[in-house]
Amino acid sequence: MVAKIIDGKEFAARVRGEVAAQVSALAGHGQPGLAVVLVGEDPASQVYVRSKGKMTVEVGMKSVEHKLPAETSEAELLTVIADLNADESIHGILVQLPLPGHMNEDLVINAIDPAKDVDGFHISNVGLLGTGQKSMVPCTPLGCLMMLRDHHGSLSGMDAVVIGRSNIVGKPMAQLLLGDSCTVTIAHSRTKDLADVVRRADIVVAAVGRPEMVPGDWIKEGATVIDVGINRIDAPEKGEGKTRLVGDVHFESAVERAGAITPVPGGVGPMTIACLLANTLTAFCRSKGLPEPEGLTV
Ligand code: GUN
Repeated sequence: MVAKIIDGKEFAARVRGEVAAQVSALAGHGQPGLAVVLVGEDPASQVYVRSKGKMTVEVGMKSVEHKLPAETSEAELLTVIADLNADESIHGILVQLPLPGHMNEDLVINAIDPAKDVDGFHISNVGLLGTGQKSMVPCTPLGCLMMLRDHHGSLSGMDAVVIGRSNIVGKPMAQLLLGDSCTVTIAHSRTKDLADVVRRADIVVAAVGRPEMVPGDWIKEGATVIDVGINRIDAPEKGEGKTRLVGDVHFESAVERAGAITPVPGGVGPMTIACLLANTLTAFCRSKGLPEPEGLTV
């Protein structure tokens, strides 16, 4: 079997188009606003934040960026967050992670108003998701779920394995799959026979950050593979000093066995910012007592 390639770039463009249409339709109620806070000069974070700002404006939302120096104190950052919490023109707040080492990330994230926590990292949102209540859902797992629902319709009764137990992807992904009535296994670095666990799965979500660690012969014939990994590796075949991006799954072998698979790049990656915009729209609608945007929340 040769897998269908799930085109995340195209899917994300569709989601952003839907967000833009709803922002325009709701203009009479005001404009959704998203604030991004970046502390320090991490180059990858800077690229990501620039891209977020551009796409926020493209869908018709207000975009605010707070770029603070790496030596900003935790107290100063908390003041910025308190001001954004109180700002009625701001409906979503994202503090880019990782934060510099002298800051307590949990404390900072939990200072964000949970209703504006478009990352879904606040402990209240984690608890709401875990108990099946309305919450803000972390963007990357939300994007993965949207792609799975789009491909399968119902996920009910499917065997799903999530490889990786991070708070940002693995754990919320498992909660979402459970919410859609999958039988869920969370595998991690101490899992005894990972190959065996993966071979039984109808859905494989790989989110460990280890280049090509899942070989194609672990994939059950016809399974759906969602590859969250974005790993840069050396590519001497492209020339000296060149690199390329690969996922956590060995794509060339997995594509021969899977029923559907997301590529890297161009799979899950583009969905994250699209879901951030979807979450900002959801937060805006909730703040105004409007119906939630259909198809853009769980
Ligand atoms: N750093 C890398 N990914 C993310 C994300 O999704 N949200 C935040 N806040 N920081 C990140």
